[in-house]
Amino acid sequence: MSVGLLGIEELTRPEVEAILQRARFFQPVQTQPFKKLDTLRGKMIVNLFFEASTRTRTSFEIAAKRLGADTVSITASGSSVSKGESLVDTLNTLAAMHPDAIVMRHSASGAPHFLARHLVTPIINAGDGTHEHPTQALLDALTILDRRPALEGLRVAIIGDIAHSRVARSNVHLLAKFGVDIVLCGPASLLPPELVEIAQGVSLTTDMSEAIAGADVVMMLRVQLERLHDPPLSAGEYFQFYGLRLEHLALAKPDAIVMHPGPINRGRELSSEVADFQRSVILNQVENGVAVRMAVLERIVGEHANGRASA
Ligand code: NCD
Repeated sequence: MSVGLLGIEELTRPEVEAILQRARFFQPVQTQPFKKLDTLRGKMIVNLFFEASTRTRTSFEIAAKRLGADTVSITASGSSVSKGESLVDTLNTLAAMHPDAIVMRHSASGAPHFLARHLVTPIINAGDGTHEHPTQALLDALTILDRRPALEGLRVAIIGDIAHSRVARSNVHLLAKFGVDIVLCGPASLLPPELVEIAQGVSLTTDMSEAIAGADVVMMLRVQLERLHDPPLSAGEYFQFYGLRLEHLALAKPDAIVMHPGPINRGRELSSEVADFQRSVILNQVENGVAVRMAVLERIVGEHANGRASA
């Protein structure tokens, strides 16, 4: 079994805290004139993306390079997957070239977990189906903590297509470990009731005003049309009932922040005014993505990585 990062669910709170603390060390590196460290010199990271990605793939690659590692990025359309090769055979082929880690995104929930059982190469989950997206939840936590002293006691509203969102699931796992009051909101058919079982502080509502009332953080999600065969609402209806507009923010705490993992769809899940709003931290999330992925790569591939239990 490889030692990688498959999900937030398996991490303990101290492990999450350790990654965030290390990410804070890497934050100032992003704006230094010379950004390259040599912690991972001589290491090779393979990025294997079977699904579209702008932010995650680029920031994993930049994070690896800023630590001095070499990287190879492969997309499914440019690989032998398009010639019918199975996932296990593709991964075994890549593992035979002895990379130090494989960062992987796949549309099947559990795909990286399955592969991790067959490979010695550590696997870092960059999003598996509707299941988990651990580095997104870590960068989201870091972004909240840039503006709040602690996560404990905060109220976080996560709004949109919760059912198909690995971002929501990983965030619920992470925030629940810190005693956050989490409200999940969306159309009834996109609100999975089992998520309330993750922790006591998780509740569900179909009413957007109720979700936003008193929130410290309003996290908007994209409608995952690629996973939805039959959208419950038209684009116009969706925006009417679940699109975040400036007037909604009057219900939240006066210093509440607006988050979105991206890609955003202006006029669908949030208005353009909200996207460009002064308390929208969407680009800060992107910025923190590099620091968090540096911390994760270092933890998994770096000198002190050996012997750590798999998570
Ligand atoms: C998310 C994803 O792929 O799960 N994007 C991201 O990684 N920043 C969310 C989405 O695609 O809507």
